[in-house]
Amino acid sequence: MRDWLRDLFRDRPVWINALMIFSSYMAFIYMPWDIFWKPVAEDQEVWFGVMFTGWWAKLMALPHWFIYAAATHGIRRRRPWVCTWGAFYTAQISIGMLVWNISTFGFSLLGVFLGLISAAPFALLTLALADAREHFSEIRKPMRARYGEWALVTGASAGLGVEFARALAREGVSCVLAARREDRLREVADELEQRHRVETRVVPVDLSKPEGAEELARACADLEIGVLVNNAGLGYAGRFEKLETERLTDLITVNCTSPVILTSRLVGGMIERGRGAVIFSGSIAGRQPLPLHGVYSASKAFDRLFAESLYVELREQGIDVLVLEPGTTETEFQEVAGEIPHSGDTAETVVALAMTTLGEQPAVVSGWWNWIRAIVPARVFPRSLIAYVARDVIKERIPIEMR
Ligand SMILES: NC(=O)c1ccc[n+]([C@@H]2O[C@H](COP(=O)([O-])OP(=O)(O)OC[C@H]3O[C@@H](n4cnc5c(N)ncnc54)[C@H](OP(=O)(O)O)[C@@H]3O)[C@@H](O)[C@H]2O)c1
Repeated sequence: MRDWLRDLFRDRPVWINALMIFSSYMAFIYMPWDIFWKPVAEDQEVWFGVMFTGWWAKLMALPHWFIYAAATHGIRRRRPWVCTWGAFYTAQISIGMLVWNISTFGFSLLGVFLGLISAAPFALLTLALADAREHFSEIRKPMRARYGEWALVTGASAGLGVEFARALAREGVSCVLAARREDRLREVADELEQRHRVETRVVPVDLSKPEGAEELARACADLEIGVLVNNAGLGYAGRFEKLETERLTDLITVNCTSPVILTSRLVGGMIERGRGAVIFSGSIAGRQPLPLHGVYSASKAFDRLFAESLYVELREQGIDVLVLEPGTTETEFQEVAGEIPHSGDTAETVVALAMTTLGEQPAVVSGWWNWIRAIVPARVFPRSLIAYVARDVIKERIPIEMR
């Protein structure tokens, strides 16, 4: 509990942490009580110094509730929009205080004096928030300065892996690129070297073979790998009895066993150097049972639980761990998994999210819609219901002969 609290409040000034505590009190205790418990006749709500009563007060409390919930999330996750929107909101309270006192005590010396006195703290808070950008995540040290010169990216011949390599190279990190298709890896390597002036090393390797991950670890044993991106992965969709056993076990080896071996081989060096990062490409599929994609879903649940555990274990040794959980992303994944093509996010957007949240939290779901789909139902509805609904969604995404 103490470590969790230390992690929660770390690297923020006291006043921002106090604001977070106040916002969460308002979001989780006061506003629900105010909206659902407080008698309508007693309810009052003030916006811009104008008081609303009765049902109007109930209605006007809803945006307040939303604002405090958003502020709790935004401050906790160091989202840059907190500076602008938080400042707007506290400016509104400040103006409200002035207007309220003047309208209550009249446009007299007393009214203006009391108005200014009560508006001042909120005006100061407005200025402080507007000036607090450095405490929110947009400004961060480049990856090379944070973690070191080299990264290993698995699955770097396509999709998210290519984007991870590009994002790392953009921040000056040299990359070991691993996957089976050597020609594709070489193209990526040329691009990174020419565009970003970083070094690269291409390692063609089949991570579905038990010895693949060990070979890869040996191939970069002479380098100080500061960032490991366990990204290579594949899906395999269809009715379980129609799926080939060998492809299923390959999937488990690529998605689960290889990340464990690579992390195990590389994390020791990171601990010695006192810094490093391990990123896993998980999936929102790992958040719920997924009939017709069951082994894939289980493999991604494995990645998530493994990453979240490591996040806590390695934190004090200076190593950041993140599991990125995308929804549908437009890569070669669907084709390989045997799915009917359907649209999704771009690999670039999804990877950009991982880069900004690394070090801030153990897991990140890409996009609010994916978050609502993957997290909320699993917390509210019976898991069996979720499994049936998920089956119906996946059914539409795979060819008839595999249903
Ligand atoms: N795209 C999505 O909708 C989505 C959603 C959620 C999560 N994810 C996860 O994101 C990760 C990346 O997927 P992606 O969307 O970028 O898919 P992708 O475009 O199919 O890329 C998969 C990468 O993994 C590599 N790979 C596959 N099998 C391999 C093996 N046996 N040995 C070595 N490398 C292997 C592939 O390289 P070679 O073929 O050259 O070996 C390729 O570079 C995966 O872990 C996936 O589960 C994807």
